[in-house]
Amino acid sequence: MKTLPKPLILALVAGTAFCATVSRAGLSPVAAEAKARQVEARMTDDERFGLIRNLMVVNFRTRSRDERVPADVPQLAGWTPGVPRLGVPDLLMTDASLGVTNPGNGRRAADGSVDSGTAFPAGLLMGSTFNLEAARKVGVALGEEAKQRGFNVHLGGGINLMRDVHNGRNFEYFSEDPYLSGVLGGEVVIGTQSTGVMAMLKHLSLYAQESNKFRLDTRIDPAAHRESDLLAFQIGIERGNPGSLMCAYQKINGEFACGNAKLLDTDIKKGIGFKGFIMSDWRAVYAAEYAAAGLDMQSGAQLDEKEWFDAPLRQLMAEGKFTHERLSDMVRRILYGIYVSGADTWKGPQGTPDLAAHGALVLDIARQGTVLLKNDGILPLAPSGKKVIAVIGGWGNVGTLLGGGGSSLMTPTGGTSLEFPLGGEGLLASLYRLKFVAPGPVEAIGKEWPEAEIIYNAGLFPAQAVALARRADIVILNGIRFEGEGYDLPDMSLPWGQDALFDEVLSANPNSIVILQTGSPVAMPWRHKARAIIQAWYQGQAGGTALAEIITGKVNPSGRLAMTWYASVEQTPHPVLVGSDIAPESADSVVDYREGAEIGYRWLAKTGQTPLYPFGYGLGYTSFSYSDFKASGGDTVKVSFKVTNTGNRAGADVPQVYLYEAPGEKRQRLLGFERVELQPGESRTVTLEADPRLLARFNDATGRWQIIKGSHYIVLGKNATDLQASATVTLNGRAFGR
Ligand code: BGC
Repeated sequence: MKTLPKPLILALVAGTAFCATVSRAGLSPVAAEAKARQVEARMTDDERFGLIRNLMVVNFRTRSRDERVPADVPQLAGWTPGVPRLGVPDLLMTDASLGVTNPGNGRRAADGSVDSGTAFPAGLLMGSTFNLEAARKVGVALGEEAKQRGFNVHLGGGINLMRDVHNGRNFEYFSEDPYLSGVLGGEVVIGTQSTGVMAMLKHLSLYAQESNKFRLDTRIDPAAHRESDLLAFQIGIERGNPGSLMCAYQKINGEFACGNAKLLDTDIKKGIGFKGFIMSDWRAVYAAEYAAAGLDMQSGAQLDEKEWFDAPLRQLMAEGKFTHERLSDMVRRILYGIYVSGADTWKGPQGTPDLAAHGALVLDIARQGTVLLKNDGILPLAPSGKKVIAVIGGWGNVGTLLGGGGSSLMTPTGGTSLEFPLGGEGLLASLYRLKFVAPGPVEAIGKEWPEAEIIYNAGLFPAQAVALARRADIVILNGIRFEGEGYDLPDMSLPWGQDALFDEVLSANPNSIVILQTGSPVAMPWRHKARAIIQAWYQGQAGGTALAEIITGKVNPSGRLAMTWYASVEQTPHPVLVGSDIAPESADSVVDYREGAEIGYRWLAKTGQTPLYPFGYGLGYTSFSYSDFKASGGDTVKVSFKVTNTGNRAGADVPQVYLYEAPGEKRQRLLGFERVELQPGESRTVTLEADPRLLARFNDATGRWQIIKGSHYIVLGKNATDLQASATVTLNGRAFGR
């Protein structure tokens, strides 16, 4: 094993204790930087210009294959020519966080069939596992599946924070919390880059809604930005050292993200110290000058008005308006990304991933990230005897929802059991489909409970569903909501009249359990009538297996909400979705991220509001107690405590440590957590050390973090509001960089 880079070692000892062996496919950061310097110096300008943009294989505008892309390059998101004489590989880039996608099913596998891959569950389900080891395994699996197809750049790593409950892409991301998002993102990067595939983190930054995103200006206080979204990137960068980052579509404080010098150059490169390269999102570049502002690669160059990073940028350089040194810097950064990830150490399709193991990982994540929101004791059901179980709605007879729409939507290994087109044209139509994967709840529960008589009703007519519910012993209501890239959610309701249907059925039979397959929280006006509610998110290719296992008690649920479940949209900082009332791109719109760094649970703590279910919340079938809580101060907070499984079955808990009050202000911050699996009666002592930035405020003028001297109130909680133990520690007042 090669030596770990310094930042990685630091990250592994701080905050959350997970320290598995890392194998590195690429060079150490120091060696990668040196090699990048040497190789760049030997390039011609044509070679340099070749590296700083990527092309779509199929030109979206003309809908035909771009002739500049060699015939042996399969359909993918972006291709960049390498420099063979210097050993610089072509870059073959594929989406995305939830698997290796095949948009439009245009790519064929070796045997001629449509190329499919492992479909991982929604990011929010992954986030709700609080399981760093699983995130790393996902990263490895994504890398292996990319590599099998000859792709050496994986465009996963979506870690945007959930600032707005309307955001159609919330399901793709891990969490509303910068620390949780950062460490999970970092782990995925470590996993992917251990396979020699370059990973990334995206989308820089504040990309928290789809509505009018091409003409949206997101406004935020720069210091609050560093304490929130940029802190997630910083933690992920330091922990995982990704070769690349992707900048977002919208403006930040008046400048488009991909041409924003404050964001790209001042904050990310100089402030945080990112050494790799920043590529644009596809269709996010409006001028060649973006190169001077800090953008290193134009992506999907045919999608923009011009291939800016070719002739127009050469022209700027010829006119003396763009320096050669910056061109060299762009290229060195791209080369650094290649060498640090090992993307140059292989070529062409490589390896045969263990798809059975990847499928088992998907199922494990579904078991660990599914959140039991409510249970009055009805769950787990004892799966014996001849009971009549009515499963109502959500195509529970055919499968569970695979994922949300857009660039992350997978063509899953094992196929789908049902698909509906939801609109869009051409290639886009393939990304807006309701896709179901077997087994559905009917089949999966049937397997766990063979004696039961399971009757499905589509829920099209409430009267029919009610009649069935009346004669059933147990009712399972199966709610679904499709969410996706390209559009936002108008409100927190379930579509297609499901809320009204649920209300009627729940009134008809109180022995009812609700399953929700949604990408993010919904309002649940009927919730008081349900005996149990299970938040399934999107289970990827796991189908309904984990759900049936949780319902029948084979699996003890342990998911914890990685996003606050607000009681209503009025509680959130953004009750009104900006820009949804106009035709996209017809006018500018502005959203004021007035909450600053106080997102989700932090916002509710600051404004004194109570959510429906707090961040970090989730039930299980056993109980845990915490004891011996000790906390110390000084330069940072260190805590230790004992967790005991006081129930009578094995289970997992996720104790969480928060800063609750800093001198002079109530300021809640997740400082650390640990997922602990315990047998009945078993105890474990957990020790955590906080990343000092979580205790500090950022000063944008000095570029330094400041911890205020004095008493800090630290709590150990089951979640963000259920506080079990507390301590007051004294921290040294100090300022520090990075
Ligand atoms: C998405 C990115 C994705 C890119 C390339 C964009 O629409 O925002 O997340 O990586 O497309 O397909």
